[in-house]
Amino acid sequence: MVHKILMVCLGNICRSPLAEGILQSKLNRAYTVDSAGTGDWHEGEMPDNRSVTVAKNHGIDISNQRARQIRMSDFDEFDLILAMDTSNYNNLLNLTKTKEHRMKIRMITNSNVPDPYYGDLADFENVYQILDKATDELITELNLL
Ligand code: 4NP
Repeated sequence: MVHKILMVCLGNICRSPLAEGILQSKLNRAYTVDSAGTGDWHEGEMPDNRSVTVAKNHGIDISNQRARQIRMSDFDEFDLILAMDTSNYNNLLNLTKTKEHRMKIRMITNSNVPDPYYGDLADFENVYQILDKATDELITELNLL
């Protein structure tokens, strides 16, 4: 049974905090949703203001999240680890040493969730829409709720 889900992007300030907030808002307290980055540059930071704004526009507060880097214990702790793009996916696979850990890693959706870091608010809204749809599909596929 999948009960603990980790969203992963590069910096853990743009895409994966949105993915965490959106999925958490759809699930009950029986589920744990967290997020992390493959990189450590933004450790301890709040999500990017543009992610906070877009989430807020949709009634979701992600301002209490703080960025962190993925750690090896995450591969034991979480049931499912969802990468935002193929680069994140390959970085995650490279960190793992066992088949059990590798089996937990998937892409959140069939194509890359575009990195909005160098874009504008419309790019963040586009990410929100992609993640809103992807999390709905995940809930249906895995029979979450
Ligand atoms: P994220 O976006 O991976 O969606 O959090 C990025 C955030 C920061 C950087 C790159 C992507 N960066 O290069 O600092």
